[in-house]
Amino acid sequence: MCGIVGYYGSENAAPVLLKGLEKLEYRGYDSAGIALLENGNLRVVRKKGRVSELFNVKDMSGKLGIGHTRWATHGAPSETNAHPHVYGRFAVVHNGIIENDFALKEECRSRGEVFSSETDSEVIAHLLEFYYEGNFLTAVKSTVERLKGSYALAILCADCEGIILARKSSPLVVGSGNGGLFAASDISAIAAQGVDIYTLEDGEFALLATEITFFDGNLKRISKEKIEYDAEDETPDKKGYRHFMRKEMAEIPAVLGKSVCDFTAAKYREFYRVLKQTEQIQIVACGTAYHSGLCAKHAIESLCRVPVEVCIASEYRYSNPIVRPYTLALAVSQSGETADTLAAAEIAKSKGAYLVAVTNVPYSTITRLADYVLPTNAGREVAVAATKSFNAQLALLYSIASALDKAKGGAGFFDEILSLPEKVKCAEEACEEVRAWVPHFLGARSVFFLGRGADYATSLEGSLKLKEITYLPSEGYPAGELKHGTLALVDSSTPVVAVLTQKSVADKTMNAVHEVYARGAKVFLITCFEEYTSRKEVTASLLLPECKEEFTPILSVLPLQALAYYVSIARGNNPDKPRNLAKSVTVE
Ligand code: M6R
Repeated sequence: MCGIVGYYGSENAAPVLLKGLEKLEYRGYDSAGIALLENGNLRVVRKKGRVSELFNVKDMSGKLGIGHTRWATHGAPSETNAHPHVYGRFAVVHNGIIENDFALKEECRSRGEVFSSETDSEVIAHLLEFYYEGNFLTAVKSTVERLKGSYALAILCADCEGIILARKSSPLVVGSGNGGLFAASDISAIAAQGVDIYTLEDGEFALLATEITFFDGNLKRISKEKIEYDAEDETPDKKGYRHFMRKEMAEIPAVLGKSVCDFTAAKYREFYRVLKQTEQIQIVACGTAYHSGLCAKHAIESLCRVPVEVCIASEYRYSNPIVRPYTLALAVSQSGETADTLAAAEIAKSKGAYLVAVTNVPYSTITRLADYVLPTNAGREVAVAATKSFNAQLALLYSIASALDKAKGGAGFFDEILSLPEKVKCAEEACEEVRAWVPHFLGARSVFFLGRGADYATSLEGSLKLKEITYLPSEGYPAGELKHGTLALVDSSTPVVAVLTQKSVADKTMNAVHEVYARGAKVFLITCFEEYTSRKEVTASLLLPECKEEFTPILSVLPLQALAYYVSIARGNNPDKPRNLAKSVTVE
């Protein structure tokens, strides 16, 4: 992952770079650094830890600089592995992974060069110095031609008043206005500057000097259109909440109104035509987005009887997948930048699927890859743990199910979908009740989330959320499968959360509840059915509004998100920035 920034303008670069890096911390916060160029002198400051570690360099002079916030891939989080990496007259910041770094480093070492970090990125600075014969741009071109893997690069050369940017499979935008030229991994880092923003595509270069000049892969000048963006959405604040995660959970009911869609407007004609022809659906996604795909599969297969395959993108991409004619591929990604999802989507498309991007980020890479884009409209999500984006994905995927049903001659069920925001509002308010459950989870050795069908998919999401921000070992498990081995892990130190919203299998799920209760586990029940809440096996329960069975995950996930949040803060963690993770996973 990692976030990169660049600035050249009338102000001192250091504070501008630091402000941008703070906005990009969601991409990684293992270390941070900046390099400034003034009168041919490169000055570099790097620190282990958060961007705030660099605040004492705010007063450093220099109008030209680059910066980096790191999510460690190669080499531990440390000052020596922090970017920028400097070699000779070059300083470079990198987002991505250089896959042939070993061979390239050997080549450099054979020339007597010495490396000072364990990173894959440092080799880029060495190659730049090797290829430099007085022309910055051609040195960059020759260097990137040697790189395998992914990169977004911002580079300084001590001989030149400017920054050169290059990208392949890692996002990069540039901006101009307000007395300066800017570069960043995404819009959020520079939107507050109120500048015109342009995206860089794979293989292109940009030079930020007196103005921005764009070049194609052969260094031929090209022109670009600026993109439209909502500066307010790109510069989020916590609006009085202690954490972004809590604020984003509170936004869920309002967000859903923007995410549902009946696809009747003329602009959806093409999508509707595709739905009519669709014979099967493949969903490719990672993490939480994968779980929303699992929930959608349940709804689409049950209501539309169209087969749905949900694939973990990192598996799909290397599995030589079978894509039959009339396959609709849905690539679901909050960020639209997840490397595995992009690769999987590309494969599905190349094998003949019609590719629809379901994403929360306009102008993200996936929107340029897809045949068609459906925005989830959840607004910017800052917390690493996905919450409102999950519910928004569900609202949109259920809307697709309704439109598919209609396209196939059914009546659809859009009225039911329209009633969801109100139900979600009631459920959201009830979620505060789970705060009372927190003490039971604090000392847990492990936690189980159990469910069947759609409840199993929700259990997986509840478990992921808990692991991600509390660091408690946890598993989402199919309720009926527990007795085939995993029950051996359950004892009195194992809280079990049972999700029970599917009427037809409610008693079956209760069988698993009896089994874990008999082994001493405390059971916390999330259900739409009051009759189960007073059972003797249940330590505490949370009652959700009744809802069409296929759509219950959009409600039942809410207490699971809240539980993870409150356990996280009770354990002294920062739920917005869990250890080892980053919001946008742009590397394999
Ligand atoms: O941006 P994406 O939706 O493609 O991200 C996929 C996952 O990395 C993401 O959902 C991750 O699992 C979340 N941090 C979970 O809360």
